[in-house]
Amino acid sequence: MSKEGKMNKVTTSVIAEMKRKGERITMLTAYDYSTAALLDEAGVDIILVGDSLGMVVLGYDSTLPVTMEDMIHHTKPVSRAASRAMVIGDMPFMSYQVSVEEALRNAGRFMKEAGAHGIKLEGGMEVAEATRRIVSAGIPVMGHLGLTPQSVHQLGGYKVQGREDEAARRMLEDSKILEEAGAFSIVLECVPTGLAEEITNSIEIPTIGIGGGIHCDGQVLVTNDMLGIFEKFTPKFVKKYTDLNVSMKEAVRQYLDEVRNGVFPGEEHSFF
Ligand code: KIV
Repeated sequence: MSKEGKMNKVTTSVIAEMKRKGERITMLTAYDYSTAALLDEAGVDIILVGDSLGMVVLGYDSTLPVTMEDMIHHTKPVSRAASRAMVIGDMPFMSYQVSVEEALRNAGRFMKEAGAHGIKLEGGMEVAEATRRIVSAGIPVMGHLGLTPQSVHQLGGYKVQGREDEAARRMLEDSKILEEAGAFSIVLECVPTGLAEEITNSIEIPTIGIGGGIHCDGQVLVTNDMLGIFEKFTPKFVKKYTDLNVSMKEAVRQYLDEVRNGVFPGEEHSFF
């Protein structure tokens, strides 16, 4: 809250200031209005409309089939719900790799059509030029290094990245390249704790870990994982804060029983 009692919106300067002050940044994913409103009311700093949408909402086996239309469709309600949190739209596979012009055009769509406050893209050196152009158009860019799920077939699976010296050196170098290109923060996914700490201490912009250990400047989880809604698989870095799958199933079963047994609707749910 500000001195006037107004809700302070989270911006890139707030995020930068949080790193300077040593305050941890919180980020969670949302793909719809109700969840985004709940996260915003709970006080999360950044809501990511992740392309994890493909797996946890659309039922694909990977994030690769997700389209710009899917992302815009799901970012719109999230932007409508967020009154304090910064909303970041995740650039889907092949929306920024073909050319810098296409990357810029698609990043612009997140801002113009979906009301996002910034975008995220995966990769290091290879996306530096796109990052530079998007940032110079006034669009905040969040980087993403380590396990970059859009490259799952090149990486040979969802594995920890940067264990070998050369890979660690390249990731550190990539983080500096992204910072230099103007990114305001970088997600570090499935990175050994020591390497994530080294990267965090080597750059001025915040790192946001997901399987990156305790030394990152912030943390992100897929909301459907941490609430125990998505059950297909649970990576090691996920902490389930509740098991909604169980309680939601129980509620649904109770509703089915009550309808079948003529218990619901009661008088209090009926009109006379
Ligand atoms: O798509 C996503 O949800 C992400 C997070 C896991 C960082 O990229």
